[in-house]
Amino acid sequence: MTYLGVNIDHVATIRQARMGIEPEPVYAAQIAEQHGANQITIHLREDRRHIQLRDLKLLSETVQTKLNLEMACTPEMIAIAASVKPDIVTLVPEKREEVTTEGGLNIVHFRDRIKELVDLGLEVSVFIEPDLEMIKLADKFGCHAVEIHTGRYANLKVASEITVELERIFKACKLIKTAGMRVVAGHGINYHNVADLVNLGIIEEFNIGHSIISRAVFSGLGGAVATMKRLINS
Ligand code: PXP
Repeated sequence: MTYLGVNIDHVATIRQARMGIEPEPVYAAQIAEQHGANQITIHLREDRRHIQLRDLKLLSETVQTKLNLEMACTPEMIAIAASVKPDIVTLVPEKREEVTTEGGLNIVHFRDRIKELVDLGLEVSVFIEPDLEMIKLADKFGCHAVEIHTGRYANLKVASEITVELERIFKACKLIKTAGMRVVAGHGINYHNVADLVNLGIIEEFNIGHSIISRAVFSGLGGAVATMKRLINS
């Protein structure tokens, strides 16, 4: 079975637009799990633009599958991971000015911090480009999984370029698997581009957020309007 991790950051993005109490990410996680999600993924950003520490704590108590915490490889985040103990920690690059995670992490200088997380008993994944040298380092540093950044693949429009990128992703996945690490992919994956990645036949887990939450808005909008109309006219 291929695992699906559902990234619910954008539920929190909508809540933070009003700094209120809805929509509640814990509820989103429960619905995702009830519909087959194998994992709930959240990114606690330094600027706390969507997921808050409170969400992480509540989700760590309520998620029944696995909780995957995406985080920058900083002392502050390592301390948070040490106290909350999510099931999986995925190390990602983080820039304050970016709209979303741009590019993979360069882990060259993170050997000690990765070891610290591994020694805490956490499963450690690193979010990197399909780059063979970086994958070898992830193995050397004791990572349990590598999540391949599929953003470049997702942005390509020309068929020949897509084929080349898929080949690059496949080679990267093969190396991850041969090294005994879990093969994960994420970023920019949607209802149109997921099939070619699935057909590579090697990716064990996908982490998908934006496209699922976007679709959820429209699959629920009609009913939400109808309910309000009924209330106005009752
Ligand atoms: N995986 C990682 C490591 C990410 O940083 C993100 C974006 O937060 C995702 C997966 C999900 O990407 P998307 O929202 O484009 O599906």
